[in-house]
Amino acid sequence: MSKTTVFEGPIGVLGLGVCVPNRILSNADLEKMVDTTDEWIVTRTGIHERRILEDHQVPSDIAYQAAKRAIEESGVDPSEIGALIYCTYTPDHFMPPTACILQHKLGIGSGLCYDMNAACTGFIYGLQNAYAMIRSGMAKKVLVIGCDCASRIVDYTDRNTCILFGDGAGAMVIGEVPEGRGILGNMAGCDGAGAMLIYQKVGACAFPMTKQNIDTKDRYMQMNGREVFKFAVKIVTDAVEAALADAGLDVKDVDLLVPHQANVRIIQAAQERFNFAEEKTVITMDKYGNTSAASIPLALDDARKRGKLKVGTTCALVAFGAGLTYAASIVRW
Ligand code: UT7
Repeated sequence: MSKTTVFEGPIGVLGLGVCVPNRILSNADLEKMVDTTDEWIVTRTGIHERRILEDHQVPSDIAYQAAKRAIEESGVDPSEIGALIYCTYTPDHFMPPTACILQHKLGIGSGLCYDMNAACTGFIYGLQNAYAMIRSGMAKKVLVIGCDCASRIVDYTDRNTCILFGDGAGAMVIGEVPEGRGILGNMAGCDGAGAMLIYQKVGACAFPMTKQNIDTKDRYMQMNGREVFKFAVKIVTDAVEAALADAGLDVKDVDLLVPHQANVRIIQAAQERFNFAEEKTVITMDKYGNTSAASIPLALDDARKRGKLKVGTTCALVAFGAGLTYAASIVRW
């Protein structure tokens, strides 16, 4: 690697792309699978339907489409991209990193290329990794992909989890942007005391899959939803305030709140605390559910299509998830 020089200019988004599978899993479908109702799901979560991978697809199929769209929009030649960060807890395989499969398929240049698991906070962690890499001079342009397909690890007999999650992918090319735009402030953290509040016991190296456990609930994601909910309500506003302080800005400077799409009630609590109008908040979980590491780019794409996100819009991105991880970034589009 050549000697690096610190880059002092503004760093931001050069291109954004997303992709969701075509297959829809509605609340009505779930009513036939577990003891639940459309009414319960909508009032307790805000979710109406979610997208699920087709049986023949793998997560990197939709990640590839999202990344291709982000690269096209950026106008950057893939070979000029000096690093690829693939944020996920549902990789195609443990080995090789899914990032390497995508690097080859997309024709990304040589440089750091890795999978990163920060669960639903993944995309913002990835964005901050990209920011740090470019700031340090290690790379000029970085591709960040957030892709999760929880449908592959969710127990569709467990009503506590299967109603929440959907599959999706989103990507951004990060690099130098014009003065006045870009990533203005960051914060990130983790409270490992809550590490087992969302977990998948079997399948990795602590408890490898065996003939005995392959058909048990231990091979699926499990969650203490109530505890995660309490944590989330507090951390969303705390994280945004900390990132705003890092940017030297105030809540009144935020044009658009782009929160992780886990539960509409968590978002409403933040809206109330910040005294935010509904139009200043992005909600997409009604049609996608909780798409984990894809949640933030999917929300940004949706806001842009609805005309809420334009050049100069100041966004507060905030997420939380298993770990328990959390992060926020202030981005001027
Ligand atoms: O990306 C980060 C990952 N996770 C999260 O962000 C999840 C955060 N947590 C949540 O969103 C909410 O806690 C849930 C949506 C998971 C659950 O909502 P809740 O209001 O916290 O419900 P609860 O777990 O306190 O359960 C209330 C009742 C229970 O019945 P009893 O004990 O009061 O009789 C549950 O058994 O609702 C029942 N329940 C359901 N009923 C119908 C739980 N899930 C369902 C369901 N359909 N799907």
